[in-house]
Amino acid sequence: MLVLGIETSCDETGVALYSPESGVVGQSLFSQVDLHRVYGGVVPELASRDHLKRLLPMVQVLCDEAGVTPAAITGVGYTAGPGLVGALFVGAMLARGLAYSWRVPSIGVHHMEGHLLAPFLDPHAMRDGLAYPFLGLLVSGGHCQLVQVDAPGEYRLLGETVDDAVGEAFDKVATVLGLPYPGGPALEHLAATTDEMANEAPYVFPRPMAEKATLNFSFSGLKTHVNQFVASKKAAGAWSEREAARVAFAFQEAATESLWIKCRKALKQTGLKRLVVAGGVSANRFLRRTIDVGAGRLGVRCFYPPPAYCTDNGAMIAYAAYCRFASGQQDQTLAVRVKARWSLQELPPMTIGR
Ligand code: KG4
Ligand code: ZN
Repeated sequence: MLVLGIETSCDETGVALYSPESGVVGQSLFSQVDLHRVYGGVVPELASRDHLKRLLPMVQVLCDEAGVTPAAITGVGYTAGPGLVGALFVGAMLARGLAYSWRVPSIGVHHMEGHLLAPFLDPHAMRDGLAYPFLGLLVSGGHCQLVQVDAPGEYRLLGETVDDAVGEAFDKVATVLGLPYPGGPALEHLAATTDEMANEAPYVFPRPMAEKATLNFSFSGLKTHVNQFVASKKAAGAWSEREAARVAFAFQEAATESLWIKCRKALKQTGLKRLVVAGGVSANRFLRRTIDVGAGRLGVRCFYPPPAYCTDNGAMIAYAAYCRFASGQQDQTLAVRVKARWSLQELPPMTIGR
């Protein structure tokens, strides 16, 4: 089996080829960040138009560079949601058109399932113990969810954010700190510079919802706290690059610990011994360290996607599509459907990996 995966749910155009024998045979990613930077966020119509312009040439180059002819491709997977409807349609239409003309099956993939299964793209993950069941922590720009994964394709939502997604909070705080969009990686970089400030007591920001029994998250209170903290420092004439780094560190620490507090609760409640952390924010090294240390104390093994597959990419979509094809699933009609909102719990179970 050789699967072409297409990702266009937001502002990354991602294409990749995956086979179970060779893993990721080739992949290509184009980020539209430069296009949207001036607006401080993703402009949906511009995203759709750019996907439209780039997608087909990217598929052509991907196949040429991998030395793959269309005749070798056995199925096409595309992100069918959740995401920006216009952007999703561009990927879905091309994927369905290619599959139809190549006479191979196609399948619409859930973007968050793509993220959640991305750790399986690490060739050593299964040898290192990655298997079902596991607890999933999904941390991206649009989502922040705790998911109990009982078996392949069987998802139970245990908790989610009641306001901002954690990546969104990173991006908004980064803007307040004057960092370029998208701010998550820049904020991590700035926070790391506090390593040389060991003689200064770190700021401590609130851990939202920490005391509550719920497994839901909240980040808007923390974001407002940072806003007000920065505004008061500026008003007092006490603002500097150094202060920005201290705030970045304190925010990152509070956000990460808020995530870990709920993870720990969910691990204790479910008794699960494996934790998968995925989505753009799972690239954050401070977050990985914090979760690794906490989970280690509980005897829980943690798994993350390879760094290149944390943020949106075509490989995770190709892999999730492969799992669904291998479970005998595919698009049943020629109607092209995408969904801006889509719960993981609506997905049918898979037979592969049981
Ligand atoms: O999964 P993703 O690529 O897109 C969505 O599905 O939303 O996640 C993007 C998010 C952005 O908010 C970005 O700032 C955040 O992931 N992100 C990070 C890091 N790398 C990406 N946040 C914190 N630290 C990072 N190193
Ligand atoms: Zn994503």
